[in-house]
Amino acid sequence: MSIAVERIISSSRRPKTLGAGKPGAISLAMGEPDSGTPTAIVEAAVNALTSGRTRYAPMAGSPELQHAIAQHTSAKYARPTSAEEIVLTHGGSAGLAATMLALINPGDRILIPEPTYSLYADHAAMIGAEVIWVPNLADGSLDLDTLHQQAADARMIVLCNPGNPTGRVYPDTDLHRLEQLLQDTPNLLLLADEAYADITFDGGTFTSALTLARARGQVICCSTFSKTYAMTGWRLGHVVAPVELANRINTIHRTINGPLSTFIQDAALTALEIPDADLQAAASYQQRRDIVLDLLSGLPAVEMLPPQGAFYAFPKINSSLTSDEMAARFAEAGVLVRSGSEFGPSGEGHIRISFATDVESLKEGLARFASTLKDLV
Ligand SMILES: Cc1ncc(COP(=O)(O)O)c(C=O)c1O
Repeated sequence: MSIAVERIISSSRRPKTLGAGKPGAISLAMGEPDSGTPTAIVEAAVNALTSGRTRYAPMAGSPELQHAIAQHTSAKYARPTSAEEIVLTHGGSAGLAATMLALINPGDRILIPEPTYSLYADHAAMIGAEVIWVPNLADGSLDLDTLHQQAADARMIVLCNPGNPTGRVYPDTDLHRLEQLLQDTPNLLLLADEAYADITFDGGTFTSALTLARARGQVICCSTFSKTYAMTGWRLGHVVAPVELANRINTIHRTINGPLSTFIQDAALTALEIPDADLQAAASYQQRRDIVLDLLSGLPAVEMLPPQGAFYAFPKINSSLTSDEMAARFAEAGVLVRSGSEFGPSGEGHIRISFATDVESLKEGLARFASTLKDLV
């Protein structure tokens, strides 16, 4: 890495190394499902390995898997999707990176509603693009007026939905106003990171950017097997994009990464066959979301929009300390959380709590959080 790029990334708000914390510390910091990968997927990988599926896969990815994802997408979002629109990627992270590198030039302006996942701004920094932060409104919805004002000179909007770190799901009306904005601004692209699309609560609806039919030529959607199927260590994701854009993204992805693992792509075919009802990705987090909501809503110094998806809560704490200082104090008290300032300028004053951990640890971690909070306000 050039010294210049390294400097840019290390000065940005990348997660600080929290380590394991002091002995007995409880981590509410990780963005990782606590359940193991479903057995059927593991068995499919083992079978693929023992039957010799250990050689190079095609450069553009397994045609069977591209086809299966296209069918899955068509059925799930009522969006007829072809295999040529699917780019298989090394996790969601590489899909995001390849998309940005393929479609953004140095000096381009990128609109990023925030608080949001920190990786997008890092990629923009590596490219030499200009990030325009667009803080969300107080109710967590998009500031569409500002997006409209900034759109004419911008190349891309990057949306994280459901949100990391906010746990919010953007309302249907926001997505439809974005569709209109894209139609009004033909040079503008929407990159939607929908890593948590399958984790929503209270039976709420999630509107995928893939359903914005009138702006279809401008929408790129990035997904991952990591969260839905608890496959974080397997490193598999995919991008859905119009064919011409998908080809450009694929060229960048394979130039950097080469082909993906053969047996992992085989196992992903099995993952896609698991019916939603058996996966229960969302159901397993609903109870823990309720525990977090119950406990944090009762704390006087805390303001929070209820998490509607993903597995994060993002409380604002009325304290004179910065987010970094608060995160350090929580770590000293034996509970690891993330500083809100990692997630964009308006994350300052917030703390991100992940509830992707077992109920007992979650309750103990929240108890430590609540008792430490008294000393911070
Ligand atoms: C919003 C979001 N997008 C993408 C990713 C990257 O996921 P992957 O493990 O597939 O690289 C994460 C991981 O935490 C995430 O939170």
